[in-house]
Amino acid sequence: MKSFQGVLYAALATLALAAPADEKIAKRATPTLYLIGDSTMAKGGGGTATQGWGVYLPYSMTGINVVNDAIAGRSARSYIDEGHFTTVAASVIAGDFVLIEFGHNDGGSLSTTDNGRTDCAGSGSETCTTTAGVVVQTYPTYLTAAAKLMTAKGAHVIISSPTPNNVCESGTCSYSASRFTSYCKIVVSNVGSNSSFVDHGQYVANEYISLGATTVDAFYPNDHTHTSPKGADVVAGQFVKGALCAKSPLAAYIKNSTASVAGTCV
Ligand SMILES: *[C@@H]1O[C@H](CO)[C@@H](O)[C@H](O)[C@H]1NC(C)=O
Ligand SMILES: *[C@@H]1O[C@H](CO)[C@@H](O)[C@H](O)[C@H]1NC(C)=O
Repeated sequence: MKSFQGVLYAALATLALAAPADEKIAKRATPTLYLIGDSTMAKGGGGTATQGWGVYLPYSMTGINVVNDAIAGRSARSYIDEGHFTTVAASVIAGDFVLIEFGHNDGGSLSTTDNGRTDCAGSGSETCTTTAGVVVQTYPTYLTAAAKLMTAKGAHVIISSPTPNNVCESGTCSYSASRFTSYCKIVVSNVGSNSSFVDHGQYVANEYISLGATTVDAFYPNDHTHTSPKGADVVAGQFVKGALCAKSPLAAYIKNSTASVAGTCV
């Protein structure tokens, strides 16, 4: 497997070829919003009877094309290692938006077997070396590099906290954010002014708590991670609410008013 640096340099070399200097200033009338994430966002979700929330987001957007590039099973690490960030970045031009949301496949242990997607634990520049000698970076390192590929093309990057698992599975609904929420904030602070944070996990959890266990349990036909189409629509709606409440630059392309979307700003 290629090292992270190798992949990144290869990515940057490809971008240099793909992006003539004047492409950056050629703003399109209709920008594109690229969605990058895992099965909780992807078309087809996590299999039978489930759907990813990215499929429902376009219903709330106007004046922008939505391209769902989420891929089931991917993490911050494997999306970069497999070259997918490079592929998306090659299409991005100034004025576009890139929404990145990972976490469900980023946890786990690297001490025995490496599944190719677990990140090195940590919020900074820590590295881990697998038994096979692969050097693995942290979630903030991967997503900071990925986001900078996009901001270098003139895009605005939204780093979104991962969706919660079913917060009502014990019968009582409660949520406490995972470490990925704080990692997301670190990524935005690393990347700077052309990036912003949406606390999607918190907005979804709040809406679930307000809907109650009976409704929310029905959103999870197979497991506690992958939502039904109805659940995915609620999850998409809460991204919209979070983006509106955070006064995201993306709000210019949201057709709904803040007050019209379920939930309360946090
Ligand atoms: C943000 O984007 C603008 C326009 O593309 C660019 O001029 C500026 O350098 C970027 N800032 C950062 C911190 O990347
Ligand atoms: C926004 O409005 C559209 C109808 O114009 C609706 O389909 C969509 O579900 C609404 N989104 C939210 C988040 O309420």
